[in-house]
Amino acid sequence: MEHDAEMASPISSDMVTAADDWAARDDFEDSPAESHAHPPAGAGAAAAVTEDEAREEAPPAPPSEDANGIESTLQSLELQPSDAPHNRVQIEAEERNRKRHLNVVFIGHVDAGKSTAGGQILFLSGQVDDRTIQKYEKEAKDKSRESWYMAYIMDTNEEERAKGKTVEVGRAHFETETTRFTILDAPGHKSYVPNMISGASQADIGVLVISARKGEFETGYERGGQTREHVLLAKTLGVSKLIVVINKMDDPTVGWSKERYDEIEGKMTPFLKSSGYNVKKDVQFLPISGLLGSNMKTRLDKSICSWWNGPCLFELMDCIEVPLRDPKGPVRLPIMDKYKDMGTVVMGKIESGTISEGDNLVIMPNKANVKVISVYCDEDKVRSASPGENVRVKLSGIEEEDIAAGFVLSNIGNPVGAVSEFNAQLQILELLDNAIFTAGYKAVLHIHSVVEECEIVELIEEIDLKKKKESDPKKRKPKKKPLFVKNGAVVVCRIQVSNLICIENFSDSPQLGRFTLRTEGKTIAVGKVVAVPPTGISTFKA
Ligand code: GTP
Ligand code: MG
Repeated sequence: MEHDAEMASPISSDMVTAADDWAARDDFEDSPAESHAHPPAGAGAAAAVTEDEAREEAPPAPPSEDANGIESTLQSLELQPSDAPHNRVQIEAEERNRKRHLNVVFIGHVDAGKSTAGGQILFLSGQVDDRTIQKYEKEAKDKSRESWYMAYIMDTNEEERAKGKTVEVGRAHFETETTRFTILDAPGHKSYVPNMISGASQADIGVLVISARKGEFETGYERGGQTREHVLLAKTLGVSKLIVVINKMDDPTVGWSKERYDEIEGKMTPFLKSSGYNVKKDVQFLPISGLLGSNMKTRLDKSICSWWNGPCLFELMDCIEVPLRDPKGPVRLPIMDKYKDMGTVVMGKIESGTISEGDNLVIMPNKANVKVISVYCDEDKVRSASPGENVRVKLSGIEEEDIAAGFVLSNIGNPVGAVSEFNAQLQILELLDNAIFTAGYKAVLHIHSVVEECEIVELIEEIDLKKKKESDPKKRKPKKKPLFVKNGAVVVCRIQVSNLICIENFSDSPQLGRFTLRTEGKTIAVGKVVAVPPTGISTFKA
């Protein structure tokens, strides 16, 4: 909380109206992983059991980091005829494949209660037992952070627990009737926005956590804070649906007040609209107490809150609809991380297409042909994995040191392009010290798992979103190229990077075509790729 006062409002709502332009798409917008998150081996869930318990209850599948584990699983699977899955690992894997999988990121201002709500979900879904909770209660008390014990389920490292602030994106898994969820618990503090971007870029849906406690909603939203920046980033990064939980409803300053709830919903709604969310279709509000677990797994008791007749959080998450992704599309797996394990293992989220054992693929931009030895979803070995899955893929044909985060595993027939320049439509949010945005401006480009220095080399056209575009191209007046633009402008410009990066036009692949520009730790613009050099060529002037 001590950080809140110093926060300046990063984005005003009129600045973000232009986000509608690309955010208004109804199709599924989904985005790949970036390089800062914990490895997807169930860090949160792993933290939810003590060492003793871990010994008592062996995990169902061998973790893939264990080379022998992979090999023995591989051998046992090979001994089975392909249509007779007697192997426990395989049966489990196939059972889980029947359920859909969604990545859900928890976002919102610092201390809104994201980790507490995430921890409570794991507790309510039976993944953390009372003994562990008691242990966390004691640890939190020893650190004079009594109320943080639920957050300790998600906040697993010492620094996070001591300061009561999430730093890295926590990751955990839980299931409802219809869906397997991966929870990504993003940090709220402004210093860790790059980590939040990493979490949001892996997510399909978001839970925006807002504190209803007196003064806290205001600090997070009205007087600046991360609520606005997170919403805007989430939309840009492909979080297509939002559940807005109005949290801390149990707090003495709130007391499950309908007026407070309505006030927050009333203020958030126009802002969410201006950020590009269709509030009727894409957004659902509900009151909860993450700390007490109220309105989470079961509906609210009327004795606690008489006015809420709507669903609880689990119900909403269970039935939230995201458009289906095309498993037959071209293979696109932006690589988030890699390691050596009797071969080369790459990690990331499949953005398009299906990856199966035995596939011959290519890693771009270095055009290395590889063969898929095995595919893992979470801890389980699977025969194939479809879009949206966070996977680890073991490859032959390439050394681990020849791969970097941001490379993309693609199919051979239709590989992703590798370019060193592209045209983009940018929305300028807030430049540092109100600087002007002109050719020569340098920033850090975040696009799927790529983080690269970039330079704006040319401003091509400033777009006036209020004016209707002339539909007949012959009648359109040629635009004068602007020399500079200011905060709030929408501008088409050419951007260059010194290393080849794998990106695609936003209209072809929103996941590989949307990005943020940051300087000195601040998001200064969000954008979409509108033109890339012709196939096989890295610059426009070849
Ligand atoms: P960052 O990771 O730093 O962004 O914070 P966070 O959003 O993860 O918040 P966290 O879960 O760490 O909770 C912050 C404080 O709010 C803790 O003291 C929690 O106990 C308290 N808190 C969270 N949820 C509730 C709630 O539903 N009711 C009340 N009364 N307090 C809550
Ligand atoms: Mg947290």
